[in-house]
Amino acid sequence: MTSAALGKDLVGLEPLTADQIRLILDTAEPFKEVSERPIKKVPALRGKTIVNLFFENSTRTRISFEFAEKRLSADTVNVATSGSSVAKGETLVDTARNLEAMRIDMVVIRHGASGAARFLGERIRSNVINAGDGKHEHPTQGLLDMLTLRDRFGRLEGLKVAIVGDILHSRVARSNIWGLTKLGAEVAVCGPPSLLPRNVRDLGVTVLPRIEDAIAWADALNVLRLQLERMQAGFIPSLREYNRVFGVTSERLARAPRELAILHPGPMNRGVEIDSDVADGPHSVILPQVTNGVAVRMAVLYLLAGGSPDWRTEAGE
Ligand code: CP
Repeated sequence: MTSAALGKDLVGLEPLTADQIRLILDTAEPFKEVSERPIKKVPALRGKTIVNLFFENSTRTRISFEFAEKRLSADTVNVATSGSSVAKGETLVDTARNLEAMRIDMVVIRHGASGAARFLGERIRSNVINAGDGKHEHPTQGLLDMLTLRDRFGRLEGLKVAIVGDILHSRVARSNIWGLTKLGAEVAVCGPPSLLPRNVRDLGVTVLPRIEDAIAWADALNVLRLQLERMQAGFIPSLREYNRVFGVTSERLARAPRELAILHPGPMNRGVEIDSDVADGPHSVILPQVTNGVAVRMAVLYLLAGGSPDWRTEAGE
């Protein structure tokens, strides 16, 4: 499969085929090693200009994209709402078209509105990469979660992954569900009924009502934060109550029939959805997820820019 097969933009994992997802994961593999070098740079995107438009808060995704771009030798510019003309009422498309007038090649966008990345991609020539749009998708997070699971288990097919917590407000859950099911994993969701989307079973997942059921069933738990900023009303009685009923604790994990891998996309609310001894424990792959994020984003940027999966040959390595 050639890189052209990915299309112009990455707006989500829902529109991708299993082969396209595998192409990204396989392209990310050799990029991991670049970050381990004393000089963390390859010339693969030399001459490309990339704008990071972050209209919502971010630590991991924003910095990870910026590292990925710099390690590929691209020129990068960061734009946030505060300090830009967006704060004066300029529209997203006007902002992007003005950036395009300065001859950019790619836009990475995080936005609070579901569908913002697709909307932009349909209106500008540059490649658009979704870094999280509202409650819709966070495709590079889904990809880095899949790469981390593949590293840990050597496969995705047949793997049992339980996504635990606030599924209703989670773009991470959606990207994981699309990506994992396309690659043959079994996915279950577990959380309070008020935080599960209606018709969630239509996405091809099983619903496990109790955290104890998820722990007994799964090979891996992907633990999600309560997205308090997206909740308009009282979806849960209290954070203490949530931890008591759905918290991932070492006491609960001790009763698991097998050793589970523990994932969390961050930022974590320690003592709410996950206890510190689990987050920092021997089965946590939370920091390896962050490390893999750079390689996955390098792969996405490189493939959308038209690079072949064999970037070492192209880069003269
Ligand atoms: N996982 C994730 O999207 O984290 P940030 O919000 O810090 O980017």
